[in-house]
Amino acid sequence: MPWEDREIESLVFDRRSLKTLARILKKGIVNRIVGKISEGKEAAVFVANRDEEWRAIKIYKPETSKFFNSRHKYIDNQRGDDFEIASAYAAREYKMLEIAYSIIQNVPKPIYREDNIVVMDFLGDNGIPYPQLHSVIDRDMKWFEVIIDMVYQLFRAGYVHGDLSEYNILVGDRIYMIDFGQATRVNTDMGMELLRRDVYNIGRAFHIDTEGIVERWISEES
Ligand SMILES: Nc1ncnc2c1ncn2[C@@H]1O[C@H](COP(=O)(O)OP(=O)(O)OP(=O)(O)O)[C@@H](O)[C@H]1O
Ligand SMILES: [Mg+2]
Repeated sequence: MPWEDREIESLVFDRRSLKTLARILKKGIVNRIVGKISEGKEAAVFVANRDEEWRAIKIYKPETSKFFNSRHKYIDNQRGDDFEIASAYAAREYKMLEIAYSIIQNVPKPIYREDNIVVMDFLGDNGIPYPQLHSVIDRDMKWFEVIIDMVYQLFRAGYVHGDLSEYNILVGDRIYMIDFGQATRVNTDMGMELLRRDVYNIGRAFHIDTEGIVERWISEES
């Protein structure tokens, strides 16, 4: 099916995102947009193909919203219009995916980033994304250890996901962590607070008490 402006226009939100998407298609990073997987306040995610391969495309929305403004604190010294701010989030997510992929692997492999758009490996089967941990009722308690170990590996390398919850974990052939747009270094103002919250959120998803885990990690470090 050929890619048509009209179709995509109904899927995306603004001219500039559309132009960037057109460039990504022209470059052949993907050559077919199959459909939308998800749309939230900050981003929309699409499933796409490059020939026979599946890819995910995440487009950060360049929209003024209270939500976006409240996140400004996460982007250091970020100035500019909404498109530039959305692009800064995409850049952060791309960079953090590269780092996380080198440390824990269980994240979508980053493929390309331009402006506010990130292209990455698609996590799913035949164009159907793996379910979020949130919607998996029958949970294996071993997954808790796997996820906490990923958080630990990132922490040891000096990073924190910062927005971890059962919505940002996908369950497939393995457990995957996604959505790194708010990831940051641990040794920032927010770093330790975000780390404690991430660990707490994962504990809550499994009804496991995580009190003291982060403190143990810190005492091991010193
Ligand atoms: N690489 C991927 N492969 C398959 N599905 C993905 C991928 N990345 C994201 N998704 C799907 O899209 C959903 C939203 O992605 P993500 O969590 O990165 O966006 P978000 O920032 O939470 O956006 P918002 O909260 O504004 O909807 C995920 O829960 C998942 O279902
Ligand atoms: Mg998310």
